[in-house]
Amino acid sequence: MQNTWHGLTWPAADYSRVPYGVFTDQAIFAEEQERIFRGPVWINVALEAEIPNVGDYRASFVGETPVVVVRADDGNVHAFVNRCAHRGTVLVRDLSGNAKDFTCVYHHWCYDTKGNLIGVPFLRGLKGKGGMPPDFKMSNHGLRTLRVAVYRGAVFVTFRADAENFEDYADPLSLKFLDRMFHKPIEIIGYMRQRIPANWKLYLENLKDANHAGLLHQVPTTFGLWRNTQEGGSSMDKKRRHEVHYGYLGTDTDEDAAAGYAGFTPYNDQLKLNDTSIVDYRNEWNDNISSEFLSFFPSSVFQQFSNTIATRQVRPRSATEFELFWTVFGYQDDDSTLRMMRLKQNNLAGPGGVVSMEDGEVGRLVQMGIKRERDSHSIIEIGGKGPIEDQTTVITEVAVRGFWKNYCELMGAPVAQAAE
Ligand code: FES
Ligand SMILES: [Fe+2]
Repeated sequence: MQNTWHGLTWPAADYSRVPYGVFTDQAIFAEEQERIFRGPVWINVALEAEIPNVGDYRASFVGETPVVVVRADDGNVHAFVNRCAHRGTVLVRDLSGNAKDFTCVYHHWCYDTKGNLIGVPFLRGLKGKGGMPPDFKMSNHGLRTLRVAVYRGAVFVTFRADAENFEDYADPLSLKFLDRMFHKPIEIIGYMRQRIPANWKLYLENLKDANHAGLLHQVPTTFGLWRNTQEGGSSMDKKRRHEVHYGYLGTDTDEDAAAGYAGFTPYNDQLKLNDTSIVDYRNEWNDNISSEFLSFFPSSVFQQFSNTIATRQVRPRSATEFELFWTVFGYQDDDSTLRMMRLKQNNLAGPGGVVSMEDGEVGRLVQMGIKRERDSHSIIEIGGKGPIEDQTTVITEVAVRGFWKNYCELMGAPVAQAAE
């Protein structure tokens, strides 16, 4: 008989059924913070290009926990929980900046850029009265630090001393993606952020579901940026926790698309663009991959969508809300035409983007639809059931099952039978 977990069941050993309560239950959300976000995972929190100089810092999150990433005076990237060691105040209140040290607004305890406590006002009181007891040692009360890994300028952190080293965790799948994306120096060109009224895992499901893109999104489907009739696929690491899906522009014709989508609305021959430059593409990576996305377990996303390149940090806020934080960049040697293409194409992405807007909206719609459907289950069978294997088509959601496999393992959720 199936064990229940938080009153929910996982009836399929291949993770092809997911109980909807996992998207609404605040107790599960709290447990995720411990078992996943403070568990043996690596989370992308910044790019080195954002903090080139000593003292440069950025605030981010690991799950719900606020963190700060800083280039310390040793020249290395350090990270700590953004919480004063005294009574818990958020220490760094700006999104970014440059500092020699960090002073808490509350009682002015001061920390160096590595998180060591270096100053306590009235440490020994005044005139023999007040202050800290004699046995108080500043060296015992630094900020809580995180392990940091920097790979090709992408900064990842983990709470766990015993987490695999980053490169093992990333697997050649992710490393190859990052090698391509960061093959030359980048330059940050902007940020976007939005609140989405949905559970954070719905967004990861969306990212690992190559099939939806050529159905939900009418603009790329109609104008050929991404279609289910093009060549493409979905690849995973050996543990099936990360996924890359990719498509090749120009590998179908309008006739192929019209035939493939016959009778369905996504291929919309009523849509017209007065200015088609937003769907231009420059083959700058010389591999004809016109879009490629890495969803890095559990909550980091790297995007090459046409000529836009960006990271997305998925920051859970509650069981029913997350923040999506986009860091958009180009390469330092972009010519002005290419930079303009990137800026223009970014109107496809982000909160108001004519493509990405739809991903936020379907998250909201799912959350609304499942609100009182706690132990009903979604169906995840596109691309096949059983073993979770790479696909050479984008008409697949197999990688979504890979996400749930790793999720259940970390959460200790009892799935119906032993998984493959
Ligand atoms: S809480 Fe930060 S100095 Fe007191
Ligand atoms: Fe999408």
